Amino acid sequence: MDCAIASLLLRLLLFFLFPEPSIPAALPDLASCLRLSGVHNFSVAKNTPFYDRILCFSIQNRRFSTPRLPRPAAIILPHDLPSLRASVLCCRAASLTIRLRSGGHSYEGLSYLASGGTPFALLDLMSLHRVEVDAAAGTAWLQSGATLGQLYHAVSTADSPTPLAFSAGSCPTVGSGGHIAGGGFGLLSRKYGLAADNVLDAVLVSPDGRFLDRAAMGEDLFWAIRGGGGGTWGAVYAWKLQLQSVPNRVSAFTLNRAGSNRHLAGLIDAWQKAAPVLPDEFYLSCFVGGSLPESGRAGMSTTFKGLFLGPSRKARSILADRFPELGLREWEIREMSWIESVVYFSGLKNDSSVDDLLDRELHEKTFFKGKSDYVRAHIGLPDLIRMVTLLSTEPKAYLIMDPYGGAMARRHANDLPFPHRAGNLYAIQHLIQWSEDEDGGREGYLRWLHEWYEFMGPLVSNGPRAAYVNYLDLDLGYTSWTTTTTMEGSGDPVEDSRVWGERYYLGNYDRLVQVKTNIDPHNVFRNEQSIPPLTSSHRFSGHDDA
Ligand SMILES: Cc1cc2nc3c(=O)[nH]c(=O)nc-3n(C[C@H](O)[C@H](O)[C@H](O)COP(=O)(O)OP(=O)(O)OC[C@H]3O[C@@H](n4cnc5c(N)ncnc54)[C@H](O)[C@@H]3O)c2cc1C
Ligand SMILES: *[C@@H]1O[C@H](CO)[C@@H](O)[C@H](O)[C@H]1NC(C)=O
Ligand SMILES: *[C@@H]1O[C@H](CO)[C@@H](O)[C@H](O)[C@H]1NC(C)=O
Repeated sequence: MDCAIASLLLRLLLFFLFPEPSIPAALPDLASCLRLSGVHNFSVAKNTPFYDRILCFSIQNRRFSTPRLPRPAAIILPHDLPSLRASVLCCRAASLTIRLRSGGHSYEGLSYLASGGTPFALLDLMSLHRVEVDAAAGTAWLQSGATLGQLYHAVSTADSPTPLAFSAGSCPTVGSGGHIAGGGFGLLSRKYGLAADNVLDAVLVSPDGRFLDRAAMGEDLFWAIRGGGGGTWGAVYAWKLQLQSVPNRVSAFTLNRAGSNRHLAGLIDAWQKAAPVLPDEFYLSCFVGGSLPESGRAGMSTTFKGLFLGPSRKARSILADRFPELGLREWEIREMSWIESVVYFSGLKNDSSVDDLLDRELHEKTFFKGKSDYVRAHIGLPDLIRMVTLLSTEPKAYLIMDPYGGAMARRHANDLPFPHRAGNLYAIQHLIQWSEDEDGGREGYLRWLHEWYEFMGPLVSNGPRAAYVNYLDLDLGYTSWTTTTTMEGSGDPVEDSRVWGERYYLGNYDRLVQVKTNIDPHNVFRNEQSIPPLTSSHRFSGHDDA
């Protein structure tokens, strides 16, 4: 089984980071607690076909599919709000740490792993995938286990006189539970902002088992759950979304351009000057790498993905004016409906249909590691040439550069926990990805990415060097919890977590800590990069360190 391939080196490394948990004595209690509460879809027996199938189904990064990684003591599939609450409370009673999993796309596997030998239960939300669209109101309620593909499908098939859409990421198997919890950027974000910017209400199961909607949770907590990271505040059961309207026809293209390193650097330079200041209706991203799928051959190239909310004629005239270097030709751009453009940019096979968006399974799983940066000042051409040249030494590495500006820049940096607004030209994702587990290979890949990231340091944002929480990166630092609010070692969790917390949330970190302290003082919902609560000594004696 795919889910069980591993290199020895990594196994050893991960063994120290995530030693095997001992079997907790509390499992019979968990099973009877669940049954008594009407929850019947669960497994407390490892290595049964059901357990393996559910566990592996949404391990979306094969770096975390090795058999030596810690496995959950129980897998529970809640199917409604009461069973979600019962699952949370029974896990607490059985002293099991909770891992919530929606689509399983966490870059570091945090939705299905726990470090430090902590016994844990996986609450897989895949049964909670209902989407109810109110076309007249232009809103939708979405259960948090629904994938973006399931959401887009429901929105596009709703009975509405004008096409409805939603602004979120492009990969259809991404889960709304984790995605919206971290922000959620996509092809409509320059026009309509992040997914989190378009959340009107939510229902959360709090750490003590209460059902909280927006009115009951209050504006501070409602603020925190829209971008302050998944697995931290409670279990989001459902989101209420503001849908957007889009024209009947939109225009889309994918252009691969090859050439010398100097030529490619010139294209990237023209792109970075044009893309962040195009009209809001225009999304134009830039991929750079040595084996981009669109190039169809080895060697460095750039791929530009464009979506324009309007006719192709207009898209072409805008680009001829603002980005003539791209040389977009008439036959390279196509008009289609918005939902067809979702399929077009989904990464699904090119003969896929709208119904294929309903498939929760990610068919081509790879091993990958990602890191992120923000660019606030144009990178100079000589540096772009150095970048392309260095990137060309590792064909498994590539960059995805997403343009900001537009609606992204019109929100204030503290409107939501996601702070990367005005002043950011674009985001860079640094990725390295491989599909076969070559012994020793992955150590080399991770080291390469690390050195690349060092090289990029002077060219990107600093003070602190910002990162996007949905591109989770444990290299930025992590907190190893032993018991609930105490951390391994003698550090102060709030100051320790500030190191990575301020890179994801900048000036919003302290407010997140405050909200966490109020909703979850015992740190029930925690992972290696969850916001910590103030410890009781801090709460009762101000900020004096004992
Ligand atoms: C192939 C791929 C494409 C991507 N494309 C984009 C993109 O276009 N734009 C973008 O912004 N990001 C993108 N991402 C990043 C993605 O948004 C994050 O990885 C996100 O956290 C995934 O959500 P999930 O539900 O699939 O993940 P999960 O791994 O299930 O969850 C992620 C985190 O959220 C927590 N969580 C899950 N459900 C809930 C819930 N109901 N309540 C509370 N906490 C919960 C988990 O415990 C975990 O900590 C992509 C990732 C991948 C792998
Ligand atoms: C348990 O949940 C899974 C995922 O939703 C579903 O496929 C399966 O049919 C459920 N089993 C039972 C017994 O309800
Ligand atoms: C779809 O992909 C195949 C193989 O990758 C290619 O030959 C074909 O031209 C593509 N079709 C379209 C419409 O892009």
